[in-house]
Amino acid sequence: MAAFSEIAPGWWPFSAGTTAIVIAITIYFIAYQLSSRKIDPREPPVIAPAVPLVGHLLGMALLGGRYIKNLGIRNQQLPIFTLPVPGSRIYVVTDPSLAAAVQRASRVMSFNPIVPEVTQRVLGLDDATVEITRKNVDPGPGEERGFLPDIQDMVSVWLGPGDYLGSLSLDAATEMRNEIAAYASSTPVNSSPTDLLSWVRHLVTLSTAKYLYGPQNPIALDPALECSFWDFDHGLGSLLMNIFPSITAGRAYAGREKLSAALLAYLEAGRHKTSGSKIVQKRVDIALEHGWAMPAIAREELSFLFAGIVNATTSTFWILLHLYADPALLATVRREIESVLSPRSSSDNKPGYALRITDLRDKCPVLVAVYRECLRLGSDTYSTRVVKEDYLLANQYFLKKNAVIQIAGGVIHADQRIWGADVFDFNPKRFLDKTNSNSDAEALNPDTGSKPRPKQGNAFHPAAFRAFGGGKTLCPGRHFAMNEILAFVALVVLQFDMKPARGNKIDVPPKNDGVLPVHILEPVRPVEVVISKREDGFAGDGLDVEFSM
Ligand code: HEM
Ligand SMILES: *[C@@H]1O[C@H](CO)[C@@H](O)[C@H](O)[C@H]1NC(C)=O
Repeated sequence: MAAFSEIAPGWWPFSAGTTAIVIAITIYFIAYQLSSRKIDPREPPVIAPAVPLVGHLLGMALLGGRYIKNLGIRNQQLPIFTLPVPGSRIYVVTDPSLAAAVQRASRVMSFNPIVPEVTQRVLGLDDATVEITRKNVDPGPGEERGFLPDIQDMVSVWLGPGDYLGSLSLDAATEMRNEIAAYASSTPVNSSPTDLLSWVRHLVTLSTAKYLYGPQNPIALDPALECSFWDFDHGLGSLLMNIFPSITAGRAYAGREKLSAALLAYLEAGRHKTSGSKIVQKRVDIALEHGWAMPAIAREELSFLFAGIVNATTSTFWILLHLYADPALLATVRREIESVLSPRSSSDNKPGYALRITDLRDKCPVLVAVYRECLRLGSDTYSTRVVKEDYLLANQYFLKKNAVIQIAGGVIHADQRIWGADVFDFNPKRFLDKTNSNSDAEALNPDTGSKPRPKQGNAFHPAAFRAFGGGKTLCPGRHFAMNEILAFVALVVLQFDMKPARGNKIDVPPKNDGVLPVHILEPVRPVEVVISKREDGFAGDGLDVEFSM
């Protein structure tokens, strides 16, 4: 700075300090200009970061999923926008019909190219296995198929409508019934306050581990692993960042290592073959065919156990919470469920019942509306894809090769133009008034290449309900999840009452959206309730239900 004023005395009237500030401001504006420039005039509108270049990355690191969600809500007039990040772009889609266009263009925009990297970080897969997963991730017709498409297709076919879905749903409902019965018989009436989320977690974790991996599953053999599982879940974001994970995500790392070691012992003892579910046996076979070693398969199974547990847990928690917080709603839902229960003679003299799971889905509209509304409110999911070649989306928006595109479910779920002025409130009625209650993006099946259904009456756009994702990354477990969650909720509301641990009303806290949304969001504070047998005596001695489909 001093050199400046010596060379041209008098020409530059400012002090060194002022000069430094002027230079800094100039650099800032140049950087700002650079980071707000479009690569192509047809590129979606650019939102420049407050801190040039790295601002968006900082925002995401500091605020989690809330950062992009808030940007999207503030810019809701933009159906798609560009976030410049060093060396690349993130395109954020906040409009259902553009989301549907992204889902249809699955040849150009795919999640699979990122899967090897993501699973390596999260599951700790070795390099040789990651090499296998990188092969043929998106085969065209007639091309050789890699591990990923093989296992994804199998899982979605097996969990799609059909006999296997029915039998796995029955297994799940039966395990849940048994876990809840074990709880009811071990717990005195009007016992101490219970943390509702932990209670649901415990029951869902034990029963999921059982219906997927059998009675000899790792968590049944070592109950301490339940805690390891939730440590893993809560540190998933840090594992994904992968900056010295054994230090920055210590508990998640330790939990994952313990669980994968236990799953390895389970597989090596062949317990999946003797008592695991058919779908787990098939998954192991597919991995073996593609040359995976057992230790890697154990890690891959941890991801399946995770998919089976985490979203079923948090969505069940919200459903029970909203029902017990609203006595009138609870009464309505109880009536619906009781109307599809049929009495059955049981071996002892206790009243026994038969319950068809499909009746919960088809004949309990308020229950189903509560289910959908809890998923809408709780899920800030991002459907993420890589743009594999330069592409003009909807013949209008230029997308650059190797950029990332995200459909921001959290923004779409918060859009008043879609859901109405009470978009942030819990209002299951919105799913009763609409004609397409089945708006789980089913109509956008990429395999059939079908166009979205035309709007019927005042129905929501089929791609507006994002809880299960959409297109190629639509959750393969969605039918199964609905069956097991409705069965679980039915078992609980038929047998128990819940009172607030303090005060006279059950508190419904907001969701914690400051995390990476790897599953339906958890509440910002715990909810404590006192659980007791139903006061009116219904099913007072425990509920003997035989499920059918
Ligand atoms: C309410 C409960 C559930 C919700 C909201 C849900 C949601 C989702 C979403 C949004 C995705 C896509 C993630 C992405 O875009 O990358 C997904 C993927 C997946 N889900 Fe679910 N899920 C639920 C329950 C289940 C259950 C119970 C199972 C299995 C038993 C399951 C199995 C899977 C699997 C295996 C994948 C990965 C698919 C792939 O590899 O492409 N889900 N789920
Ligand atoms: C669970 O659901 C959330 C919200 O819809 C989604 O973001 C996430 O990817 C799902 N995770 C799994 C493991 O299914």
